[in-house]
Amino acid sequence: MKSVNNPLKVSIRYSRLKDAPRFFAILSNPNFKYLSVSVKTLKDEEKWLRACPSQRRKNIEWNYAILGAGRVIGAVGIKINRARAHIGEIGYFLEEQYWGQGLTTRAVKLIEREAFTKLGVSRLEIVMRPENRGSEKVAIKNNYQKEGLLRKLDKDKQGKLRDFWLYAKIRK
Ligand SMILES: CC(C)(COP(=O)(O)OP(=O)(O)OC[C@H]1O[C@@H](n2cnc3c(N)ncnc32)[C@H](O)[C@@H]1OP(=O)(O)O)[C@@H](O)C(=O)NCCC(=O)NCCS
Repeated sequence: MKSVNNPLKVSIRYSRLKDAPRFFAILSNPNFKYLSVSVKTLKDEEKWLRACPSQRRKNIEWNYAILGAGRVIGAVGIKINRARAHIGEIGYFLEEQYWGQGLTTRAVKLIEREAFTKLGVSRLEIVMRPENRGSEKVAIKNNYQKEGLLRKLDKDKQGKLRDFWLYAKIRK
């Protein structure tokens, strides 16, 4: 693990089809217990990435790779609320070897700037399972406000409906 005194430089850019093998490898980690998304095959990942440009054009989803020192180490994205386009929901994941160095916190800062300055979003939400303390801390460290518990919001990987904390930030 790299020293936190000398953290990797984090940047984000739109996800590309060629990111598929890295995303697939990162997402195949069995320790990603609280992520609702599960990708079964590399082909599924490629299909998903192929749709990203059209999802952007339609203002449905804005997905980015997280780069650490130029290498893909995770992803961060925003889903635009279909009924209220001023609301976006941020999601993220990072390769396990980089956890605990503040890298996702920084990636969220970067995507938040995109959302508030370029995407016309004025409310950003982050939801996470209460057990997912690392994800909750990413929201807290970025000054998102806890708004409450969304009961039975989404299914876990086993298909069971679970409660999630709702955190949100408003554009100033
Ligand atoms: C959640 C996740 C993105 C966090 O990424 P990260 O780069 O490690 O996050 P950061 O380092 O920016 O911040 C995490 C903070 O939580 C802390 N943390 C991590 N796991 C923790 C735990 N189980 N209990 C308490 N704190 C924890 C870290 O120490 C860090 O806090 P610190 O900066 O005060 O030390 C990463 O763990 C991940 O990819 N998990 C799997 C996918 C996932 O769950 N995505 C989110 C779905 S809502």
